[in-house]
Amino acid sequence: MEAIDYMPRLVRACLENDRRLVESVSLTVSRKLRRDRPDLASEIAGALAASDMRSEATRAAEINPLPIDRETRFSLVEFIEPIELPDPILDAATTKELADFLKERGLIQRFFEDGIEPSNSILFIGAPGVGKTYAANWLAYKLALPLITLDLATSISSYLGRSGQNIKSVFDYVRAQPAVLFLDEFDAIAKRRDDEGDLGELKRLVNVLLKEIETCPKGSIVLAATNHPELLDRAIWRRFDRVIEVPLPEENERMRLFERHLPSDRFTLSQEMLFLMVEKSAGMSAADICKLCEHIKRQSVMNPGESIEIISLSELYSKCKPQTKQEKSEACIKLREINPALTVRDIARIVGVGASTVSRYMKEA
Ligand SMILES: Nc1ncnc2c1ncn2[C@@H]1O[C@H](COP(=O)(O)OP(=O)(O)OP(=O)(O)O)[C@@H](O)[C@H]1O
Ligand SMILES: [Mg+2]
Repeated sequence: MEAIDYMPRLVRACLENDRRLVESVSLTVSRKLRRDRPDLASEIAGALAASDMRSEATRAAEINPLPIDRETRFSLVEFIEPIELPDPILDAATTKELADFLKERGLIQRFFEDGIEPSNSILFIGAPGVGKTYAANWLAYKLALPLITLDLATSISSYLGRSGQNIKSVFDYVRAQPAVLFLDEFDAIAKRRDDEGDLGELKRLVNVLLKEIETCPKGSIVLAATNHPELLDRAIWRRFDRVIEVPLPEENERMRLFERHLPSDRFTLSQEMLFLMVEKSAGMSAADICKLCEHIKRQSVMNPGESIEIISLSELYSKCKPQTKQEKSEACIKLREINPALTVRDIARIVGVGASTVSRYMKEA
């Protein structure tokens, strides 16, 4: 979509005083304009920065009130309008799973015509920061449906006695209009099973959830995410059409993450540097890498005279500090190898050792 295509949505959001939507659509428009009309993009960014925008209840939520806890009157869910997001960077198998799911959803009418049930639920499992929540947001965008997030950890601990009722009302909301329901921290329903006092209530709750997931209309989608799949019993796994295991990013994905978040037109890094960053970031999640790139970008704005290579390396080594003498020595030698222009002081700063130590390592090598 072009920037201009977002105008009707932006106008509607302004007229309806939906500040959150104004902000998110403006960000998308600004991103789209960055190349051809950087002046307009930066004006929009300035206007956003100047106005203290906070999320408020959205327009749709006002028309069709979001489910609330009957006693506290607090909203049980978070409501997010679909918003354009770049594709998640994932390994080939996970990417294919998501693409297949979207393909199925695109053929939903054919499925119904042929009397075949389309799938409408996914359980995402994976370590923190691999992109489970991001994938849920992205699927909602691809399907042009709002994302309704129910954080089970907070809702169960706050309203245990009324959780069953609350979960029903959340599903009723999703039944009334097509949406993507995202059950975050899904293991919360399992974790507290050890807690004797709550056992009966939790069992009841699991049964309510299983039934609701099974009977959720196919026009809506149920996504769930957990870091602790071992806590969920098989009966729960079976309720989901797909279980997608999202792994930590491998070399290829880490390279793509760096390339996306440190675009080469603004942050020129040699291939050797990029390879070193990819190698050193092994074991980091995609979220860690995104955060690392944000730090690098911020530092480069704050220190315009500093070379981007030195900034990137300093940030990288501050995240994965060489520990032993051997690691430190190897890091110093490697840095000199990939960029002979680095001075002993640069290397000392990057690796976090004294300049005399660096000289010693060089001599020893
Ligand atoms: N696979 C990915 N591709 C692109 N960006 C990603 C990916 N994974 C994570 N990110 C970035 O990191 C941020 C945090 O990731 P996200 O919240 O999706 O992790 P999560 O798996 O839900 O973690 P948690 O288990 O802690 O909830 C995202 O908003 C996104 O910017
Ligand atoms: Mg998450």
